[in-house]
Amino acid sequence: MGCCKCCCVLLLAVVLIVGASLGLFSAFFPYPEHASCRVDWIFGNTCSDVKSRLINQIKLWSTDDCTTKQQCNYEYVGEEGSTIRGLHITPVMSFVDKFNFTLTDGSGGLCYVKGASESTASYAVIDFGTNYCNLKNLIIGSELDHNPKYNENSTNSVCTMYSLAHCNIYT
Ligand SMILES: *[C@@H]1O[C@H](CO)[C@@H](O)[C@H](O)[C@H]1NC(C)=O
Ligand SMILES: *[C@@H]1O[C@H](CO)[C@@H](O)[C@H](O)[C@H]1NC(C)=O
Repeated sequence: MGCCKCCCVLLLAVVLIVGASLGLFSAFFPYPEHASCRVDWIFGNTCSDVKSRLINQIKLWSTDDCTTKQQCNYEYVGEEGSTIRGLHITPVMSFVDKFNFTLTDGSGGLCYVKGASESTASYAVIDFGTNYCNLKNLIIGSELDHNPKYNENSTNSVCTMYSLAHCNIYT
């Protein structure tokens, strides 16, 4: 894993330097300029259910025992209107990421959620999908993805390494 990450970093660094020097940054680099992720979800659960499940999951994973899993070091910051806020420290990279979920009730008991995660390290450009997984692991952990009406959408241009991310790999 260490070697593979190293190669990825070098490869992406070369792509970045070449792309930037040719003035073709966006053509070569399909991700946001700063490591971050925005995802839209539809849940077949009411927003009050979604909210309590997400908050419970963040609190459950607020332990700092990261020896065996990535699902640690979450911090519940609080809620403000329909927005839930939290922090996550990435065990491998030690980046502090801030994230939020904004919930909107839809008809038929659906809940529309906008999730966002962003590295607080200003120099972070690539994140191996960490910002996406900060959000997605909470969805998986709280089993919100089990409802048949569950749906997710995002793209590389608003979510760093979205198409490559494999959450839950640091087991
Ligand atoms: C959620 O976080 C994103 C990324 O940091 C930020 O751009 C957005 O304004 C935040 N949304 C709310 C409602 O605070
Ligand atoms: C999800 O899809 C909708 C409809 O196509 C689009 O407007 C929205 O920007 C997408 N969300 C993300 C995070 O890409």
